[in-house]
Amino acid sequence: MRLRNKPWAQELIKNNEQYILVEPTAMAGNWQKRFAKSQPLELELGSGKGKFILEQAKKHPEKNFIAMELQTMAAAMILKKQLAEKLPNLQILVANGQNLLELFAVDEISKMYLNFSDPWPKTRHEKRRLTAPNFLKLYQQVLQDNGQLEFKTDNQGLFEYSLVSMSNYGLHFEQISLNLHASVLADDNVTTEYEEKFAQKGQPIYFLTCRF
Ligand SMILES: C[S@@+](CC[C@H](N)C(=O)[O-])C[C@H]1O[C@@H](n2cnc3c(N)ncnc32)[C@H](O)[C@@H]1O
Repeated sequence: MRLRNKPWAQELIKNNEQYILVEPTAMAGNWQKRFAKSQPLELELGSGKGKFILEQAKKHPEKNFIAMELQTMAAAMILKKQLAEKLPNLQILVANGQNLLELFAVDEISKMYLNFSDPWPKTRHEKRRLTAPNFLKLYQQVLQDNGQLEFKTDNQGLFEYSLVSMSNYGLHFEQISLNLHASVLADDNVTTEYEEKFAQKGQPIYFLTCRF
């Protein structure tokens, strides 16, 4: 998903720093101060337009959430939705997941979500896949010891790659589904924009949760 930058987006972001930060330099270890209450912190990496994280934050007021997104334009679209809702437990972060260690302290996060991450099918792009070992190493550091990683995708190739990559890294799988919407896990599932699109076409959604 590539979105064209619009002039209103920069202005909106600049005027709403209580909800959104762009590549902040001094937030590691300090995220709880951005929320109304100090409570478990969950991070979605690659939030897109934010459907999942807004619904998740509404459903779980007992947790704090961060929507992390590389594209300014997508983050501005999340911000628009947040300005309509003003959820006290949701913050938006414009940054690249490659910089997680500069953005979060060790053990600062209790759960991470990877939803419909870009598949990067070419072997030479493996390091860009958000389930490649270079990324898993970052998640291991920012996640608490018992922290959970949740991953959903429509892409069979990326799912198979991720199972191998995570298994080789030593992650322990807790739940695996090759058809999330037809499983018992569907009751609790909050969908993303991409998920809605693929599910409507009848494609199965692959799902897993695991811990380091
Ligand atoms: C295919 S879209 C899926 C969006 C959303 N999660 C959904 O399921 O509808 C992947 C999103 O991840 C973002 N993304 C990809 N790599 C990223 C990275 N390294 N750091 C932060 N965001 C990233 C992209 O900009 C894009 O918005």
